[in-house]
Amino acid sequence: MRNLIYVFFIGLISISSVQLMAASKIHLEPVEIDLSDKASLQRGAKTFVNYCLSCHAASFMRYNRMAKDLGMTDKQVEENLMFASDKIGDTMTVAMRPDDAKKWFGVTPPDLSVISRARGTDWLNTYLRTFYLDDEKAMGTNNLAFKDVGMPHVLWEQQGYLENDHGHLTAASKGTDADYNQTVADLVNFLAYIGEPSKIQRLALGKWVLLYLFLLFLVVYPMKKAFWKDIH
Ligand code: HEC
Repeated sequence: MRNLIYVFFIGLISISSVQLMAASKIHLEPVEIDLSDKASLQRGAKTFVNYCLSCHAASFMRYNRMAKDLGMTDKQVEENLMFASDKIGDTMTVAMRPDDAKKWFGVTPPDLSVISRARGTDWLNTYLRTFYLDDEKAMGTNNLAFKDVGMPHVLWEQQGYLENDHGHLTAASKGTDADYNQTVADLVNFLAYIGEPSKIQRLALGKWVLLYLFLLFLVVYPMKKAFWKDIH
């Protein structure tokens, strides 16, 4: 009897996960992540601070760490990427109280520190490009990747508005941004960076490690040959 109950629950769990997977099955737009492209990361940081940080925190990220990783001075970050009330050693938090956020949007905007690892960068790229007009929603918009999302289309000025024609999105109005997809790609690049800031150093260090191993090989191999010369 007990086994039967187990089987029943396992069955239930697998059915619901299959349904979840089916629900999220949309075509994802691939995006190229390049953490060595500092200019792209800087543009992404700017969009993030100006358009996302008012609602979403990135509380694992400190401004001074970001300055270093993105090749900027503390002063540049203070002047361009920070609100006046913050200090350079602070983490990227929001001023909004979680209770207020819940009242306004129905849900609290999640912290985006590790969202790129939770959702994947292709999903983020798709999400930020597929807001469309929907009269039935309080925000007036909906999203292809995240149905009935509680977030408004904050980059509407840049992208313009899209209309949903049976799953196919077409432009309803023109945005100010000539290359919106690039803006989103930079932003997603930045979100990938804050998801794992030390990756930049790891990749940089990796090259030196490989070079070291190669040089070591040049020394060690002739040595091995010399040692084994007389042994047959
Ligand atoms: C006006 C407030 C607001 C702003 C500004 C905002 N968001 Fe959101 N965002 C939300 C809310 C609220 C949710 C939760 C939606 C839900 O769960 O229905 C959300 C959800 C998300 C999610 C999905 C999180 C998940 O659960 O997987 C991502 C990703 C996201 N936002 C990214 C961004 C980015 C990037 C920006 C900047 C371009 C941004 N948001 C700006 C309010 C905001």
